[in-house]
Amino acid sequence: MDTRFRFNNGFHGERLMTDMLTGKVALVTGGAQGIGAAFGRALAQAGAAVVLADITDAGAVVEDITSAGGQAMSAVLDVGRPESIAAVTEQVADRFGGLDILVNNAGIASALTAKPFLEITEAEWDQVMRVNLRGVFCCMKAAVPLMRARGEGAIVNIASATALKGVPGYMHYIASKGGVIAMTRGAARELGPDRIRVNAIAPGLIMTENLRNHASYRGEALEAATAGRALRREAVPEDVVGTLLYLVSPQSAFVTGQTVIVDGGFVMN
Ligand SMILES: NC(=O)c1ccc[n+]([C@@H]2O[C@H](COP(=O)([O-])OP(=O)(O)OC[C@H]3O[C@@H](n4cnc5c(N)ncnc54)[C@H](O)[C@@H]3O)[C@@H](O)[C@H]2O)c1
Repeated sequence: MDTRFRFNNGFHGERLMTDMLTGKVALVTGGAQGIGAAFGRALAQAGAAVVLADITDAGAVVEDITSAGGQAMSAVLDVGRPESIAAVTEQVADRFGGLDILVNNAGIASALTAKPFLEITEAEWDQVMRVNLRGVFCCMKAAVPLMRARGEGAIVNIASATALKGVPGYMHYIASKGGVIAMTRGAARELGPDRIRVNAIAPGLIMTENLRNHASYRGEALEAATAGRALRREAVPEDVVGTLLYLVSPQSAFVTGQTVIVDGGFVMN
């Protein structure tokens, strides 16, 4: 078990974490690596049965979870294709009998390179919107009937602090994440009567494996990102999991429509 996880997760002691989500079923999109994989491990550690759904194979994360005694399965999912989403929710219902938690984490992020918006093509714009924005909309549509059947649910959409900072070079990306925040608020109002809570997390720069291998996030660029933070250090995926666990747990039963910024105090609202 990664000791850094325990240190960063914001909860005091393993016992509180261990049973908090027992009996719950969680679907994490984009769960094969990066922040989504950390979410999957943390949800499983808190007792949930976890479905890691991704266009790439999430088998290694499933293996980690099951070999530690947790419950998990992987599913092939393209959030840009509604029929793929429907197939996955059906598999989840068949295997685990329902769905309580949806984490809309899949996104086109680390694959993007900064460029002036005048150089972003319409095809690039559409691709980012299709996955980052429409994908969240379609996954919520597919998950809500299962949550209604349970009588409650929790949805957490992964936005980005870039949408709040107006970061240059990523017009399509920041627009998609701004849309995720707006959609979170609308969905929270529509789904409140169903006892389905919808919140968002807006992480700052989180050093995943993909970003560590990305030339744009080394040296001065990385120093500039951390220099603006109240907490002047690099962030890792495990820095985000405490907020996720809070937002899907009964500890936040009266919290909905919110966007929690997890960026070491760069953006303050
Ligand atoms: N890492 C950061 O600094 C950071 C900061 C703010 C927000 N975010 C957001 O957090 C989320 C995870 O980011 P990450 O850095 O871990 O990314 P990552 O690139 O490491 O992982 C993203 C995962 O999403 C999957 N994916 C991509 N397109 C998909 C699709 N159409 N259907 C299903 N899965 C798909 C990828 O295969 C990958 O496993 C993203 O939504 C990203 O925008 C990341």
